[in-house]
Amino acid sequence: MNKTLTPAEYDRIHEFLEGQAGIKLGPGKEYLVISRLTRLLPSFGLNGFADLVARLGGYGSIGLQTAVVDAMTTNETFWFRDNAHFKVLIDGLLAEARPNDLRIWSAAASTGQEAYTAAICLQDAMQDGRVNRMLRYEIIGTDISPTALQEAQGATYCGVAASRGLSDEQRRRYFREQGGCIEVLPQYRQRVSFRSFNLLKSFDALGRFDVVFCRNVLIYFSQERKRDIIARIARTLKPGGHLFLGSTESMSGHEDLFEMRNIGGGLVYRVRS
Ligand SMILES: C[S@@+](CC[C@H](N)C(=O)[O-])C[C@H]1O[C@@H](n2cnc3c(N)ncnc32)[C@H](O)[C@@H]1O
Repeated sequence: MNKTLTPAEYDRIHEFLEGQAGIKLGPGKEYLVISRLTRLLPSFGLNGFADLVARLGGYGSIGLQTAVVDAMTTNETFWFRDNAHFKVLIDGLLAEARPNDLRIWSAAASTGQEAYTAAICLQDAMQDGRVNRMLRYEIIGTDISPTALQEAQGATYCGVAASRGLSDEQRRRYFREQGGCIEVLPQYRQRVSFRSFNLLKSFDALGRFDVVFCRNVLIYFSQERKRDIIARIARTLKPGGHLFLGSTESMSGHEDLFEMRNIGGGLVYRVRS
């Protein structure tokens, strides 16, 4: 098998990824393509990257296309990531308004930790009365990566994913131990669902949301795509709805659509009406 990657093959793979998923690799990321895609070659009966590139756009290549996008996504996430956001959600947005209904979208859910963390925080707050005890909430997690979504749906985490971001007490409280792995307890899973979704596609079928978490994904996109997605999120939010971005991400020229709020040190963006 020939594992070398020519500049032209790299450019073609990059172009494909940007077109399919919006992901921009930038220059000098050949090592990433080689390390992530080499293992796909034998399973698709390919002899090398020249073969892969030749097959990528061809008839009947959906399986290969999906596998390439899946392998090239960066699914890094962890429990209670940017915990200030969850505090803002509970103490800043819900404690005072005390809504009866709440729809949350975890728009790049990866393996599910963001969506389940939100459910854990909501359940805790409902139990101790910080938010409406009768709150009917729904959390929808979406991602383009089938492998990540499968783990999210299984709600079982092993290795680093079973500890990163969690204290021993949180592990005991919110999970069931299972042979070195941990499984999210049913009460934190029952109102969380996951589905495959590409952020480049129309959001219409998802309905409207009160809160959107779109964290640590826009960094992979071009400025134009990022702006387009932020504008479409604004339209998918209900009046007065809120958007959380990753802690290193910004609104990029969409201050006309969102008002930035700093609540106890956590940043959140409220859609302007
Ligand atoms: C780094 S993870 C972020 C996970 C989580 N939001 C967090 O902040 O911890 C980025 C996720 O975005 C997903 N992603 C990348 N491009 C996407 C696209 N076009 N549509 C939907 N999801 C995408 C990847 O599969 C990956 O799971």
